[in-house]
Amino acid sequence: KAGRRPLVAGNWKMNGLRSSVSVVEAVRSGLAPALLDTVDVLICPPSTLISSCVAATYGSPIAIGGQNLHAKPSGAFTGSISAEMLADLGASYVIVGHSERRAYHYETDDGVHAKALGARRAGLCGIICVGETQDEREEGRTLDIVRAQLAIGVPKGATGADTVIAYEPVWAIGTGLTPTPADIAEVHASLREMLGRLIGPEADKIRILYGGSVKPGNARELMAVENVDGALVGGASLVAEDFLGIVGAY
Ligand code: G3P
Repeated sequence: KAGRRPLVAGNWKMNGLRSSVSVVEAVRSGLAPALLDTVDVLICPPSTLISSCVAATYGSPIAIGGQNLHAKPSGAFTGSISAEMLADLGASYVIVGHSERRAYHYETDDGVHAKALGARRAGLCGIICVGETQDEREEGRTLDIVRAQLAIGVPKGATGADTVIAYEPVWAIGTGLTPTPADIAEVHASLREMLGRLIGPEADKIRILYGGSVKPGNARELMAVENVDGALVGGASLVAEDFLGIVGAY
C-alpha cells in the first residue's frame, strides 16, 4: 500500500527448543519464490535459537529477529541481550515494547524509546508495539492510548528502514478475538496521522502491522484493511503450514 512492502512477522514468544528450527526450514521450503518478491518474511524465535535460525535461512530472504533487547550496547546487566549482540548473530529486526514485556516486565514508553534507539544504533529495524487493553477500549480510550504510546516510543528521525509499528490490541492477543476491519482501519489511520506529526512525510514509508489472533482464515480480510502493511503473528507462527497460509494471503 502506497509503495510500502508488506511484512509478515512471526513472534514465537517463549516457545521452541532446538528441534523447532525445523519449522523455519519448513517455512523456507514452503515459500513460493514469487511471494518473496512482494512480501518480507520475518521470524523472531527465542534468543537461544537465533543463530540456528539464521543458519537455516542462510541465502534466503527470510529475516530473523529478536523479541526484546536491552537499550545499552553492553555492560553489567545480567541476563540481558543488546542490539549489538542480536546483530552479531545475524538478526536484522527486533520487537520493542510488546504488550507482554510491558505487562510482565514493567516496560514503559520511555523504555521503549530507549530500546528503539538501541536497535537503530546497531542497525536493526525496531518493531515498536502499541495497543490498548480491554478496559481501555471499553472506556473509549483506544486512540488516546495508542497515540500516546507512539508519541513517546518512536524516536525522532525514525525512517521506513529502521522502524516498523505493530498495533496489537492486548485483548486480541492469543484469544481468537479480533477487532473489526473498521476498527483496525480507524486505529491504523490514526497511527499514520500521528506518525506524520512526529516525523513528517517519512511517515508514509513506515509499515504498520496488525497483530492479535491473525490466522490463515482471517489474514486476507485483515491484511486488506487500509493502512495495514502486514501482520505480527504469535501462535500461528509456530506451525509452518499456518504461517505460510498467512504469508500466502498476500
Ligand atoms: O506478537 C504477536 C502476538 O502478540 C499475537 O499473538 O497468538 O494472538 O497471534 P497471537
